[in-house]
Amino acid sequence: MSQRVVGVSVPRKEGAAKVTGTAKYVDDMVFPGMLYGATVRSTIARGKILDIHLPDDFPWHEFVIVSARDIPGRNIVSLILDDQPCLADRAINHSEEPILLLAHPDRHLLSTAVAAVQITYDCLPSIHSIEESELRQEIIWGTDNTFKTYTIDKGNVDEVWKDAAWIVEGEYSTGAQEQLYIENNGVIAQYSEAEGCTVWGSMQCPFYVHKALMALMGLPEDKVRVIQTETGGAFGGKEEYPSMIAGHAVLLAKKAGHPVKLIYDRMEDMAATTKRHPSRTRHRTAVDKDGKLLGSEIDFVIDGGAYATLSSVVLSRGTIHAGGPYCWPSIRIHAKAVATNTPPHGAFRGFGAPQSLFALERHMDRVARTIGLPPDEFRRRNLLKQGETTATQQEIREPIDLQHLLDRALKLSDYHSKVKIFAEKNPKERKKKGIGIAAFMHGAGFTGSGERYLNALVGVEATVQGDVRVMVSSTEFGQGTNTILCQIAAETLGLEYSDVQMAPIDTTSVPNSGPTVASRTAMIVGKLVQSAALGLLQTLTAAGLLGEPVDRDVFREACRIYVQQFGALKSYSRYQAPPNIFWDDTKYQGEAYPAFGWAIYVAEVTVDTATYSVTVDDFVALQEVGKVLHPILAAGQIEGGVAQGIGYALYEKVVWKQGRMVNNQMTNYIMPTSQDIPPIRVYFEEIPYPYGPYGAKGIGELPMDGPAPAIVNAIVNATGRDFYSIPLLPEDIFATLTEARHEIAEEVLA
Ligand code: MOS
Repeated sequence: MSQRVVGVSVPRKEGAAKVTGTAKYVDDMVFPGMLYGATVRSTIARGKILDIHLPDDFPWHEFVIVSARDIPGRNIVSLILDDQPCLADRAINHSEEPILLLAHPDRHLLSTAVAAVQITYDCLPSIHSIEESELRQEIIWGTDNTFKTYTIDKGNVDEVWKDAAWIVEGEYSTGAQEQLYIENNGVIAQYSEAEGCTVWGSMQCPFYVHKALMALMGLPEDKVRVIQTETGGAFGGKEEYPSMIAGHAVLLAKKAGHPVKLIYDRMEDMAATTKRHPSRTRHRTAVDKDGKLLGSEIDFVIDGGAYATLSSVVLSRGTIHAGGPYCWPSIRIHAKAVATNTPPHGAFRGFGAPQSLFALERHMDRVARTIGLPPDEFRRRNLLKQGETTATQQEIREPIDLQHLLDRALKLSDYHSKVKIFAEKNPKERKKKGIGIAAFMHGAGFTGSGERYLNALVGVEATVQGDVRVMVSSTEFGQGTNTILCQIAAETLGLEYSDVQMAPIDTTSVPNSGPTVASRTAMIVGKLVQSAALGLLQTLTAAGLLGEPVDRDVFREACRIYVQQFGALKSYSRYQAPPNIFWDDTKYQGEAYPAFGWAIYVAEVTVDTATYSVTVDDFVALQEVGKVLHPILAAGQIEGGVAQGIGYALYEKVVWKQGRMVNNQMTNYIMPTSQDIPPIRVYFEEIPYPYGPYGAKGIGELPMDGPAPAIVNAIVNATGRDFYSIPLLPEDIFATLTEARHEIAEEVLA
């Protein structure tokens, strides 16, 4: 049956409000009697607070002051392990750790007040790298600085080395990356003994905030209310941190007896909130004489920062993706998240996979070169086929043809002729050109048994006028949630797109459809919207008010009669796992994800060997993500992911000094602008996924995984030198290329 609404690029649901300026972001909101909040943070990376002194020559009586002692419930940001305090009490474990909160009616007085607070510390030695954490000379978390480990074991890796024609080793690393959403973190909180607390804010996961506030404030479920305001970007950066800032605002609001607005400026947001986990990955790979992979040992480590927060789940996704879209007869992956004295690293689009896939796809190019095969041909011989299994022994049941995907990407990018032309021209040119490939996949939905535990619930409601509202906790933050969920409901009910609206996201009135993360909204929540909408039709049909086929006018009339008679018309749908999904959490084996998106990306670059700068000249992004629900939004997701990937590869470097970000401004933390982005050519293959709405799978994170390795592989192709780390800045390329010249010079001399 052909679709009318799904697959069509309808206008964004909240688009008009955004472009006309009527959309309300949290900092647009003003409450009567509202105060402004600010945070006093640690200036040391590790130690003990000896004294907090408020000097006499300051009007402290005008300020509301909150410390850890004012917390009525538990002093934690409740998430997974509950190890992170909401306010440091005695121990300091990272710079920028919140210690004291201040509020005042005049927001301009706050920075002076924050600076006036005098804190004395007993400093302790701190650690700031994966290597220092592994040395364990300082134990800063648990007994061994280790938040979490995983092992995936398939086949028998110990047996592969003796039969190998080649064994190739390599070590790769990736840096931290700031999410750089346009709108910084911010909330407003209100508190009363009768009603409990209400928080309005910029966030991805209202029910995460809800859970954290219950623990912090010692309040029951119905005394905590969380409302999402228009959210200006998130990228994972508003997955866990809003629970912290919401807690701070509520503590201030309770003590003040007034609403409190707490908004970070860019510098505070960059210095204090989460970033992508830095990583180190070691590969050791055995290949036979025909260029077939025999097996591999992968060691994957991420730097979690000072508290556990989400590191275990970020590590999990990175570990499962570490073997990529290849058929490994044997593979063993060891993975570990370690503690350092930096602010906790957190969720960022891709969630561990961009790190491990950068290492894998760089390594694949190095293996190919070692064994004398072109990078595309080596991949072709090893890409997964239907019926084969991933590293976790998940059988690929979808009719995916990765060889075909590879062929199409090579053709679209004119790969083979470019390889030839560049090889001919480069020796004579100052500006050397290169082309690089990355093959990858990204699991959609929560990992393993995650979706079963989440147990998402979605509602659809019809009014007496026959208008329909979708009730979810899945948030819009620019990616298109509102639009695609309304499309799915309209399509299912035979309505116009304009007949369907989203219910405002308020934890007192919408069901918990889970967090807005993990490329799960379109595929998992979208499917539940579809089934809840079908439930509405069933109810009306059972009441004798609807026949087949569903007609819009008949539907509206049926709603009118039903609601007048019964008061309301609502339908709910709860998550049910697709059949044959089995996951063993102890062995880390089985169906890691309900479905994967698959992709081949090709980057073309120019490296200027006088300035050592790199430009990305062309980019082909080809992916299979099931049915495309909204072509413009889907292409936008890919273009945005590629742009972020270009930043991750070539520009965005967090400069740390004793665990503190020192370039926490957009003037010195350099992200790509439109000037630095090539034409991004986006192509989709559409194989409808039977358990997604109208065949859709997840798309949000996938495009973050491939650009960095494709770009660095292209730089290697251009320069003939290997690079192992990102970000890869001109000074890094300079160092390697001039080192090459020295070597050549020495050879000539010898
Ligand atoms: Mo996320 S990186 O918001 O799953």
